[in-house]
Amino acid sequence: MCVFTSGKMSRWLRCTIVIRNLGTSIKRTANFWSEFQLPFGTGLFFSAPASGFGRGPIQDSAGMDLSDMRKTYKADEECFEEGHLASLDPIKQFGDWFNEAAMCPEVGEPNAMCLATCTKEGIPSARMVLLKGYGHEGFRFFTNYESRKGAELDSNPFACLVFYWEPLNRQIRIEGPVERIPHQSSVDYFQSRPKGSQIAAVVSRQSSVIPSREYLRQKNTELEEKYKNTQVPMPDYWGGYIVKPHMIEFWQGQTNRLHDRIVFLRPNNGGVLGEMQHQAEGGWVYQRLSP
Ligand SMILES: Cc1cc2nc3c(=O)[nH]c(=O)nc-3n(C[C@H](O)[C@H](O)[C@H](O)COP(=O)(O)O)c2cc1C
Repeated sequence: MCVFTSGKMSRWLRCTIVIRNLGTSIKRTANFWSEFQLPFGTGLFFSAPASGFGRGPIQDSAGMDLSDMRKTYKADEECFEEGHLASLDPIKQFGDWFNEAAMCPEVGEPNAMCLATCTKEGIPSARMVLLKGYGHEGFRFFTNYESRKGAELDSNPFACLVFYWEPLNRQIRIEGPVERIPHQSSVDYFQSRPKGSQIAAVVSRQSSVIPSREYLRQKNTELEEKYKNTQVPMPDYWGGYIVKPHMIEFWQGQTNRLHDRIVFLRPNNGGVLGEMQHQAEGGWVYQRLSP
């Protein structure tokens, strides 16, 4: 579950929680998914029926009690000290953790990340996207420029990315301004994709309301025919963004709940180190936060 807030959230909170309980999936061969929304003051609404929970949380008409659901993290001797940083360059440190996640067989999609954006009034939204490249210039992903996230980034070009690699008990949070990548870079990536994905990107006017799945199927078939023997041109409503980080936080979960949080920042005070801040590389500083 990813929770985030903004100035506008004080009036009301719309929280979508997705629960996937695999606790007994091996025995029961069924996964459980439930999605519910909690508008303050208006009660609890389930958009999917709740059934088949394996770990036995209490369920009644008031909702689902998950208070005893917790996992075991690392032992204290495996804590994440400043001396354990692979690099004082946070992009290299990201690369170190990312590579470990990519090598971890239990991490299905190491490059899946939650992208949070906001309207210019400060109303937030979040969704998963795939990281398609990173380096000192930033973190890249591709999407539809006319989607909800695209519209929000047009009017408020700042974003937050969150990675969570559950088997490693690690979270990375990245914040910063966002820009569209150069058109030609988007074209190059678009053309490198499988033809089916290219056609799907043309078919989907992402985040717009459509009459049915059949409507998509038909459009897909038409375009498959149209581009049978030719290249699919990249639509002008599709392309890449780059998040240029000014904050990167590395979080390592610990069993005793004394989790580790090491945060890299780009100081905007002329390079003067704040109290409890340490010099990192490439103009970054770092500090530890209470968990
Ligand atoms: C694991 C995962 C990866 C995804 N990757 C992308 C992606 O790279 N680009 C994208 O536009 N949507 C991706 N999606 C779909 C988005 O989560 C979202 O549904 C879509 O972008 C529309 O979001 P919006 O209406 O908030 O703009 C992905 C979804 C999941 C679950």
